[in-house]
Amino acid sequence: MDLLQKLLTGILMFVCLVGCRTISPGTVWTDDNGNVINAHGGGILFHDGEYYWFGEHKTEGPSGNLAQVGVHCYSSRNLTDWQDRGIVLPVAPEGSGSPIEKGCIIERPKVIFNEKYGHFVMWFHLEPKGRGYSGALSGVAVADSVTGPYRFVEAVRPDKGYWPVNVQECHYGPDRTDGMAFDGGSLPAHPDSLNILGRDFSSGQMARDMTLFVDDDGTAWHIYSSEENSTLHISELSDDYLSHTGRYVRLFPGRFMEAPAMFKRDGKYYLMMSGCTGWAPNAARSAVAESILGPWQELGNPCVGADSNTTFRSQSTYILKLPGKDRYVYMGDRWNPENPVDGRYIWLPVEFEDGVFRIRWQDRWRL
Ligand code: DGJ
Repeated sequence: MDLLQKLLTGILMFVCLVGCRTISPGTVWTDDNGNVINAHGGGILFHDGEYYWFGEHKTEGPSGNLAQVGVHCYSSRNLTDWQDRGIVLPVAPEGSGSPIEKGCIIERPKVIFNEKYGHFVMWFHLEPKGRGYSGALSGVAVADSVTGPYRFVEAVRPDKGYWPVNVQECHYGPDRTDGMAFDGGSLPAHPDSLNILGRDFSSGQMARDMTLFVDDDGTAWHIYSSEENSTLHISELSDDYLSHTGRYVRLFPGRFMEAPAMFKRDGKYYLMMSGCTGWAPNAARSAVAESILGPWQELGNPCVGADSNTTFRSQSTYILKLPGKDRYVYMGDRWNPENPVDGRYIWLPVEFEDGVFRIRWQDRWRL
């Protein structure tokens, strides 16, 4: 009996251990306090042996799509057990007039570490309170410690007064939008015929969905949906990562890509993006390049199997390279705009086949 009991306890412990180390996409994930993890549209920074997951803290009900609290951070040594590190960039009090005042929109925060300056830099998509998505700004914040607190620096539209490296003759011409209003999902004409790039030359380029990427030489890049969401920009950050240098490239004009995620493998740069359908999921896109400034070649939908046409009912937010390994993890959001706090996380392994990457659904998988 004693032996049987020991055996059963051993089996139970083993099952628990295995269970604790698995990832079950789309289920409710909890932190070390048993609270539901609240870090949407997030990204991960690996620093000093720990993973730090930064994301949007959402609240209940449709107003939870607005920033009521700030940017949340969790840490982990194994990507499955997460410790709550709290709100590392709180919103400013209502009525303060700050660009990050409570009720603004803060989306897709990403944090990178600057070796040269020894500080941590967070960039995020910022929409000032009460102006919908018309601001199309990028917010930047900085901290001396990975878990903050992060100090808000400023909100900008990138690359004011600079032309992209692949500017065309048509962009030097007049603004042809004629005061038109856009809804972020379609344009009555190709962005180049309307010259949206030229329209925003002197005020700075629109920047909505975004990610960050640090290259092997320490150069950091800000990748964002621009030109009324029609075109993706990849823009170099200054050596302190707190501003843009003015060196940037525009990609996939008129392809309406959102939710960019970038990684590098064997010297090649890969991008994953979504189409533009608001909170509703759509088929993902992917692309590859030998140089970050291009040329970029589109590779199609990297997802395979059932639900691949909706990215398994999710939208990309980040692709994590496991340190020291040739392994990559797709991180996506299954949004729930009616009750955003109940949005779920879809993390899946990224596989490689003949120079392209593939993502397949798994109910449960181990790192
Ligand atoms: C899709 C974007 O990817 C999200 O971050 C968010 O901005 C929604 N659109 C809003 O509709």
